[in-house]
Amino acid sequence: METRVEVADFEDWRELAGEAVELLQAGELVALPTETVYGLAADALNEEAVAKVFEVKGRPSFDPLIVHLGSWRDIRKVAEVPAEIEDSVRELTQEFWPGPLTLVLPKKENVSDAVTAGLPTVAVRVSAHEVMREVAKKLGPIAAPSANLFGKISPTSASAVVAELGGAIPLIIDGGACRDGLESTIIKIEPGEKKPLITVLRPGPVTREDLRKFGTVKKARPSKDQEVEVPGQTPSHYAPRAKVVILAKDQDFEPEAGVKYALLTYRGDSKWEEAHEWVAQEALSPGSGKLAEAGVRLFHLLRKLDDAEPEVILVESLTETGVGVAMMDRLRRAASEER
Ligand code: TXA
Ligand code: MG
Repeated sequence: METRVEVADFEDWRELAGEAVELLQAGELVALPTETVYGLAADALNEEAVAKVFEVKGRPSFDPLIVHLGSWRDIRKVAEVPAEIEDSVRELTQEFWPGPLTLVLPKKENVSDAVTAGLPTVAVRVSAHEVMREVAKKLGPIAAPSANLFGKISPTSASAVVAELGGAIPLIIDGGACRDGLESTIIKIEPGEKKPLITVLRPGPVTREDLRKFGTVKKARPSKDQEVEVPGQTPSHYAPRAKVVILAKDQDFEPEAGVKYALLTYRGDSKWEEAHEWVAQEALSPGSGKLAEAGVRLFHLLRKLDDAEPEVILVESLTETGVGVAMMDRLRRAASEER
């Protein structure tokens, strides 16, 4: 299949969004930009189209999809909002939508098991990217996982989508580099004793600190439970071809003879830059060391380093505050050898 890549520029982006709607209505898949990562979109209420998403990505059927809405008013098209968390849902969506926050809510019957992997819940969000939102307004709910092959690095640019899915889908809309560069924060809300209980199922651009105003924030425990609560968050994920090894800040690096190494550090001023002949090296936030900038660039730089074909990518460990929590979550999964 020939894959068209069309740039959504100021003049014609609505027209392009219209074309995407037509393809989606015909049951095809289209890659669309969001503020987090590019999504592989399908009509969420068309089971055959949803099945195609799993086929094209090579995604196991136990891994549910996120449903993208045109506006918060559309929540009730796919989800129930239980009375006991209604206030929290309103406050959270007012604050963070459109934006990188995904809510897990009880699903409506019209959402098929294919989307939710048989779960009684559905994950919903309203993207801050105009193209995704326009398409969802015109079409209705859109199921869209990240537009990469299963287990690989999420694409943060149209060219990364081409590298992952070129030839497999008819259209990629190029909406520029993703503003956040990390997948959305996924939460579950429950009534608590004094304050609502917010469980972070996947850390992302909306941080624990951001959420604290709205309830007691807890982390999903990496227990057996988590397999049920956060399906699809398999230990090994976000993986480049090369093996990823995380280096603690004080750790010494001892190269193995004959092995090709690449290096990714935070500011580019670590003790390792000069310590070895790297096949490639990059810094997440050169000089300034800003976490948000590092977050935007993480997946892009992992891809870039991987293209230099090292056998190992060494990554400097990051401080786990703010968006650093999400970055370390992705890096640990990229480094995991558990399949
Ligand atoms: O930023 C994002 O969320 C991006 C863009 C495209 O919107 N999408 C994304 O989708 O990251 P994906 O498929 O790569 O990750 C979806 C994850 C699943 O792996 C699962 O962990 C969680 O969302 N999920 C989906 N439905 C769920 C549910 N009902 N309960 C719990 N977790 C769910
Ligand atoms: Mg993904």
